[in-house]
Amino acid sequence: MSESYGGSMRQKQVTGYLLFSLGTAVIGSLQFGYNTGVINAPEQKLRSFFNDTWVERYGKPISPGVCTIVWSIAVAIFSVGGMVGSFSVGVMANRFGRRRSMFLVNSLAVIGGLLMGFSTICSSYEMVIAGRLVIGLFCGLFTGLTPMYVGEVSPTPLRGAFGTLHQLGVVVGILIAQIFGLEALLGSAKMWPLLLALTVAPAVLQCILLPFCPESPRFLLINLKKEEQARKVLVRLRGSEDVSKDMQEMKEESAKMAMEKKVTIPELFRVAAYRQPLLIAVMLQLSQQLSGINAVFYYSTGIFDSAGVKQPIYATIGAGIVNVIFTVVSLFLVEKAGRRTLHLVGLGGMAISAVLMTISLLLKDIPVMSYMAIVAVMLFVAMFEMGPGPIPWFIVAELFSQGPRPAAMAVAGCCNWTANFLVGMSFPKLVEWCGPWVFLIFTAFLIFFFIFTFIKVPETRGKTFDEIARGFGGALPTTSSSVEDPPASAATTLPASPVKEKV
Ligand code: GLC
Repeated sequence: MSESYGGSMRQKQVTGYLLFSLGTAVIGSLQFGYNTGVINAPEQKLRSFFNDTWVERYGKPISPGVCTIVWSIAVAIFSVGGMVGSFSVGVMANRFGRRRSMFLVNSLAVIGGLLMGFSTICSSYEMVIAGRLVIGLFCGLFTGLTPMYVGEVSPTPLRGAFGTLHQLGVVVGILIAQIFGLEALLGSAKMWPLLLALTVAPAVLQCILLPFCPESPRFLLINLKKEEQARKVLVRLRGSEDVSKDMQEMKEESAKMAMEKKVTIPELFRVAAYRQPLLIAVMLQLSQQLSGINAVFYYSTGIFDSAGVKQPIYATIGAGIVNVIFTVVSLFLVEKAGRRTLHLVGLGGMAISAVLMTISLLLKDIPVMSYMAIVAVMLFVAMFEMGPGPIPWFIVAELFSQGPRPAAMAVAGCCNWTANFLVGMSFPKLVEWCGPWVFLIFTAFLIFFFIFTFIKVPETRGKTFDEIARGFGGALPTTSSSVEDPPASAATTLPASPVKEKV
């Protein structure tokens, strides 16, 4: 731990109130994880529900082909909602503020959860599909809102560690979904509607807790110009009367922002200075999804089954537990080892695990290979959480200054969801075509992204935004602001201030 890091801790920057606010925001991440993992276990039950509805309506069973189409739509439409939701984050967060946006977005979880929960009573599989779409929108919005809020209330030297909390929420959510999805709990033919509707409960809980959390001080000061309110919030969050340093940093950010032109998404692509960080942001998101992680999380039970594992569902839960443990490991390492190093270690480790997985699938007739499959999957998941899991979610905000940040986060988030959608949709077909060789496709992607990260990705830990921008070949253009809507350019602000420690 560096001097200033330790120093900041001594200044009591981490208070109970800060942890309470972070914990409340991270309920959104938990929801994203829960809804990602929840559809895996009850597949067969949902399929027979589709069939029952069909028989009731048309007097004959649904054809297997149509049933698979309905099932695939129910799974995939979640990501479509996610793409739209993540794209809308900037607009929403600027218009309503961070806290109120989270509050309002929870209504989508209530609507989506109720649609799915009442689908059997209403004999309507369309309600499952509509519910998944609404839940996808909800999750897409939270994949932007949580990292944004967490980044804005966190003390700068802990930006990475707290940034990882989003991913921790996601993985805990996946694990809860895996456990609740057990046949003996809520994964049964009778209980699955409740399993899907359960997402309403954390939404209500978050709505109860949010009024006790502060609005982001950066939003108050930079977007709303409410200096006194921002100061009060900071005093409570930091547990110290002396918040002049934070205030100074935010004012500098505010002044800089007034000079910086609001950047739209097309401009983000046109302006040469943004090209490099945008390429990196998008590639990091793609490296997260094209690593094949969701092939494991969506289809792990099938993978274990084909590798000859006797109780595949428990191996899947084991993977979920490893997932949580290594996210915690990354949380403690990220401010020490740095983002770039952890991302490289993660990608390299995943590539090796994918080769091991391929070997175990190829040689599955040898009894010991089923153990190797389990070890390989666990290692794959562990390496993912070292870097490719948590880092892309928060590094995008670090790569951009105030003006282009909202647009960049929208583009990056949307790329993540699109790649997630493509992997989810294509994996079963790829398995059909490639059989046990399928994970070598991900190995190829992993090697490519490893090389890309090695050559292109800078270390952002401990660097100011100016330093990062200079690393990309000069300061970003600071044309005078389009004044009609100045607050909008502050969308996803993170501490612009120098972090004192150096990499
Ligand atoms: C990341 C990914 C998500 C994946 C999860 C697994 O949050 O964005 O798609 O399911 O990690 O832990």
